[in-house]
Amino acid sequence: MIDKPDKKPSNPNFSSGPTAKRPGWSIINLQPSLVSRSHRSVECKKKLKEVIDRSKAILELPQDYILCIMPGSNTGALEASLWSMLGERGVDILAWENFGKDWIVDVVDQLKIKDLNIHDVDYGLLPDLSKVNFNHDVIFTWNGTTSGVKVPNGDWIPDNRAGLTICDATSAIFAMPIDYKKCDVLTWSWQKVLGGEAAHGMLALSPRAVQRLESYQPSWPIPKAFRITNNKKIIAGISEGNTINTPSMICVEDCIDSLNWVEKMGGLKALINRSNKSFNYISDWISKTSWVNFMCANPSARSNTGITFQINEEWFVKMENYAQKEVMKKIITKLIKENVANDINGYPKAPPSFRVWGGGTVEPEDINKLLPWIEWAYSEVKSEYA
Ligand SMILES: Cc1ncc(COP(=O)(O)O)c(C=O)c1O
Repeated sequence: MIDKPDKKPSNPNFSSGPTAKRPGWSIINLQPSLVSRSHRSVECKKKLKEVIDRSKAILELPQDYILCIMPGSNTGALEASLWSMLGERGVDILAWENFGKDWIVDVVDQLKIKDLNIHDVDYGLLPDLSKVNFNHDVIFTWNGTTSGVKVPNGDWIPDNRAGLTICDATSAIFAMPIDYKKCDVLTWSWQKVLGGEAAHGMLALSPRAVQRLESYQPSWPIPKAFRITNNKKIIAGISEGNTINTPSMICVEDCIDSLNWVEKMGGLKALINRSNKSFNYISDWISKTSWVNFMCANPSARSNTGITFQINEEWFVKMENYAQKEVMKKIITKLIKENVANDINGYPKAPPSFRVWGGGTVEPEDINKLLPWIEWAYSEVKSEYA
């Protein structure tokens, strides 16, 4: 058994979504929000457009991509693109963790696409990217939040593809470089790397994606919340803050607060550097700690946001899944009781594991302080079994 550490993280929130608020966040900062005003008023539309314009500038999205605010968070943005664009040609869909697997349900059970290749692998792995058919529309998640596996880059996507690439980028964007030109559709939510409030999602569309929307009408009905076109024309002003339905101006203010912080801190590069620093603390610790491994064996595919690792010792590995879950719960409960770590148990459908969020709003030094606590809690719980 090892001694209880004496230094605690300044913020115990390491959840993978909603993620930690930026350092120094206070609800008082949301005071300027335009509550009780019509979201169609000049003042509210200005704020909505500010989120769009500043997100685009910080991310350095291509000038010819349009960006809009969507209802239903990342799910709303992603499903709006599936419902509005698919069906014109076959589909290749990639999945290696919970959310990619959810998009398969949409494509197979809901939209009933027939000309389909599914590239579905287990937690910890990445599908064989060389097998993807880019004459089809291709759906993939840049970073698998629930397994800690990301695509290493966009080199596997050809520039001259015939189909569209639809990328769920929610736990990647603002945390790792993304080759935007390889993605015709990008979606994310405010509640991920920005540490914002849930509810709203962002949808970025390349000129080819817009062309699809304006030349093709799917055979299935499209719910209003997903309807980004009107008579085969993109809704007028959707990229100027003209939202499909009513947004929360408090959430909008909170997003502006995050963007202010990112800019002050040094922009996208600084945010990515913070995330890499957090990841490096964990990676260095794992390399010198014998009882733990990354869930992802491939170093170039390891996520620096949903950082996922597992106990590898025999006493644990030989247990049934339910018993492993019990062990994990005991460790996690100790950490919560000590007020050092909330929400770092692995995703419920993933193999029993730890998952620590390492996006830029988390202080890297907090991750550094957390690791001895994980060691301590592990040794305490192990002593009950081995
Ligand atoms: C990769 C991925 N896709 C989709 C979602 C769903 O996002 P939201 O709940 O913001 O719609 C999440 C949330 O954790 C995610 O990590």
